[in-house]
Amino acid sequence: MQIDPYYIKRLARGHPKRLAYTLWARAADLYSWLFFDEYQIPWKDLEGTLPRAPEADWLDTQVQPIQAAYLIWALQATDAMDGCVVEVGSWRGVTTCYLARSTNARVIAIDPFIGDANETNLRMFQSRTEGNPNVHLIRQPFGAAVRGWKHGAAKFVFVDAAHDYANVAHDLGLAHYITSAGGIIALHDTDDAAFPGCRRAVYERLDRFGLVAHIANLILLRVR
Ligand SMILES: C[S@@+](CC[C@H](N)C(=O)[O-])C[C@H]1O[C@@H](n2cnc3c(N)ncnc32)[C@H](O)[C@@H]1O
Repeated sequence: MQIDPYYIKRLARGHPKRLAYTLWARAADLYSWLFFDEYQIPWKDLEGTLPRAPEADWLDTQVQPIQAAYLIWALQATDAMDGCVVEVGSWRGVTTCYLARSTNARVIAIDPFIGDANETNLRMFQSRTEGNPNVHLIRQPFGAAVRGWKHGAAKFVFVDAAHDYANVAHDLGLAHYITSAGGIIALHDTDDAAFPGCRRAVYERLDRFGLVAHIANLILLRVR
């Protein structure tokens, strides 16, 4: 398992371990940017009928309607399995809300809501999700949430949190750890040149999963 980037932040700014980690993390993103084209992941559309995109407040999410339809498809494809649904990075709750409306499973929404504007984001999350009793918020980074995990195995995990190499590599490792065989892990922003580390982190770990689908900025991986 990768070092938890949030755990490193507990060290003082000048701590040699934090300095070394930060240098490595920045170098990893620079390297990912330089070799962005080499990390292209094969495209794969879903065959058959896609569900319709859900009703949503599209101005408050970066997830596009076609990507949302793929997420709902993945949720339905794992519906018969036992386990919870996990969202890593919930922000204003738009994606949380339509995932929760589309399943009877418990939806564990994980977001630390740290930093500028996050009290506002948290309030919007709470007011959007208050009508969905199956939503359970963990206000922590994913690493800390998994260290205290009491929710059993996951059947579907949607990762849309920090988008640099170190965080995505770490989050994908954790998602793999909590997801049962046959479950699906979805990752957002895998093809955006602004987040080259996100694509590279997924590319380097593809052989651990089955590729279910890959459209622009969304990939679905099956846990073996
Ligand atoms: C792109 S937004 C999520 C957007 C949301 N999925 C949507 O489309 O409505 C990213 C969110 O990830 C959260 N985040 C950042 N690092 C995280 C981590 N390690 N674990 C969980 N959430 C994290 C941020 O606080 C932010 O709210």
